[in-house]
Amino acid sequence: MRRLENILVTGGAGFIGGNFIRLLLENTPDFSGRIINLDALTYAGNIASLSDVQAKFGGERYCFEQGDIRDVGLVADIFEKYGIDTVVHFAAESHVDRSIVKPDAFVQTNILGTFTLLEAARRYWAGRDGVLFHHVSTDEVYGSLGETGAFTETTPYAPRSPYSASKASSDHMVMAFYHTYGLPVTLSNCSNNYGPYQFPEKLIPLMILNLKERKPLPVYGDGRNVRDWIHVDDHNRAVWRILQCSKIGESYNIGGENEWENIRLIQTLIEIVAKAVGADADDLNRLVAFVKDRPGHDRRYAMNCTKIKRELNWERVIDFEEGLVKTVDWYLGNIEWVDGVRSGAYRCWIEKNYKER
Ligand code: NAD
Ligand code: TYD
Repeated sequence: MRRLENILVTGGAGFIGGNFIRLLLENTPDFSGRIINLDALTYAGNIASLSDVQAKFGGERYCFEQGDIRDVGLVADIFEKYGIDTVVHFAAESHVDRSIVKPDAFVQTNILGTFTLLEAARRYWAGRDGVLFHHVSTDEVYGSLGETGAFTETTPYAPRSPYSASKASSDHMVMAFYHTYGLPVTLSNCSNNYGPYQFPEKLIPLMILNLKERKPLPVYGDGRNVRDWIHVDDHNRAVWRILQCSKIGESYNIGGENEWENIRLIQTLIEIVAKAVGADADDLNRLVAFVKDRPGHDRRYAMNCTKIKRELNWERVIDFEEGLVKTVDWYLGNIEWVDGVRSGAYRCWIEKNYKER
């Protein structure tokens, strides 16, 4: 087992990173270390999502640093100041539609940002044992599948959107640092995540909120594109297994092995929301609106997770339909959070709470 005393989590104010921090500090008895969360608080970063964590663990086992992963000086200072021994790199621009409209930020953060962190780790960790740089990536680097088959760790990379191309580039750089400089790295590629605190531009929270507000449900193309869904906590438990006991230089696929056509998933959400708010499912069904397809829309993703199951003894434990019901309940019960991230009001919260740091 690795030491894992001072973990730098990048992008910890975002969806998956924030859930990772909460999981480690609140629900992982075999973790006793400290987490340093470095996040630039872009539109997708919401530090108020972690206000309970800050209140409970702040200063001792949890520290927040607002800043950009491309900031060479800041990143070096953080390694030094906190004696970082582990990096879990979540920070990224993460939304495919945004990457189509404005790819620049994806090149900047996903490629240059990852490179900056790798360089800092290489310098700071020179000659040290027991350290690890874990890079969090996506199944989208493998491209698009036909009707059958699933991605394995040896599937050749074939990214097709600016988002997936930028993630593929960062994955290659991570592996290059391992092979060239011997930097201890691991890499994981995960399928589509769902759960609490996901920014409501992604399919599941967007549909839940549009249903609540009786707005149209935009279905791209014919709605028959397939995604493999996994609860964020199952993803994060897999990342934790990797941190604890993976082999250096390896990559691991993580997925729900749970394929759904978008339209079938939307219809399931309609039924769950109808039940939760006491509405008529047929009425809500009329909100479905087929719209122009996303350019370059990948048809199907599916993950083969045999390696992580066999080598690290990881299993998905959250049943998809139960997870969806809980996620719907979470969004319906946390409208204040939703309003906050949509309005940008959380920035005032930051000013108030972190100004004098
Ligand atoms: P997110 O968009 O919710 O959060 C990203 C976080 O990174 C935000 O808090 C943002 O403020 C921060 N950030 C962005 N640019 C930054 C910069 N330059 N410096 C510092 N911080 C910056 O993303 P997410 O859905 O939580 O995804 C986290 C990681 O997991 C990403 O690397 C993504 O590619 C990967 N991933 C996501 C999914 C998914 O379904 N969401 C699936 C597989 C892999
Ligand atoms: P998304 O949540 O953006 O994740 P990704 O593109 O990374 O898989 O989209 C999931 C699927 O849902 C994808 O096939 C695109 C589709 N989609 C819609 O049909 N309508 C929408 O409004 C959105 C956001 C996505």
